[in-house]
Amino acid sequence: MHSYALRVNTAVTLAIMVLAVLCSFVSLSDHFHASSPHVHLEVLSIDAFQRQKAGNDEVWLTLNISADFSSVFSWNTKQLFIFVAAEYVTPKNVVNQVSLWDAILVSKNHAKFSIKTRNKYSFVDQGNNLRGSDFNLTMYWHVMPLTGAMYTEKQVFSGFRLPTE
Ligand SMILES: *[C@@H]1O[C@H](CO)[C@@H](O)[C@H](O)[C@H]1NC(C)=O
Ligand SMILES: *[C@@H]1O[C@H](CO)[C@@H](O)[C@H](O)[C@H]1NC(C)=O
Repeated sequence: MHSYALRVNTAVTLAIMVLAVLCSFVSLSDHFHASSPHVHLEVLSIDAFQRQKAGNDEVWLTLNISADFSSVFSWNTKQLFIFVAAEYVTPKNVVNQVSLWDAILVSKNHAKFSIKTRNKYSFVDQGNNLRGSDFNLTMYWHVMPLTGAMYTEKQVFSGFRLPTE
């Protein structure tokens, strides 16, 4: 017996199945999308290096952040969340990561830029381990697709050093 409700239910189930198949096909095809972003990170100046009242080292610096993420965008890309992190090792041998700057890129047309900027978030150590220490600057990009799983990639720039005073 085919009631009206049953037929609607079957149609909806079929539509959902078709959609699910399409979505996995889209994310699968996106998987083969090759990207070759260009990133360049550079410290233009160390503007302040001070000890906070609590005794923690705090650094203010000016960065030159240039990137071209346009090749990362495929037709299945919703947006990119990008951030620059300072990474350094403290005597205890722990890798510390401090986010300095971030942005959201919503389209291919806005994926190419070059900016000179102060760190947006403070570069503070839980202690005074920053004096004379080496650090890396890493650009991370989280790719948020329209359908499928989010993934993250990064590019590391090493060889930066903070002053001792
Ligand atoms: C920032 O880096 C880009 C790419 O290397 C360069 O073309 C530009 O001149 C730099 N800007 C400053 C202010 O150094
Ligand atoms: C900094 O980068 C170098 C070279 O990629 C790497 O060997 C080192 O482990 C990095 N340091 C940190 C703290 O991530």
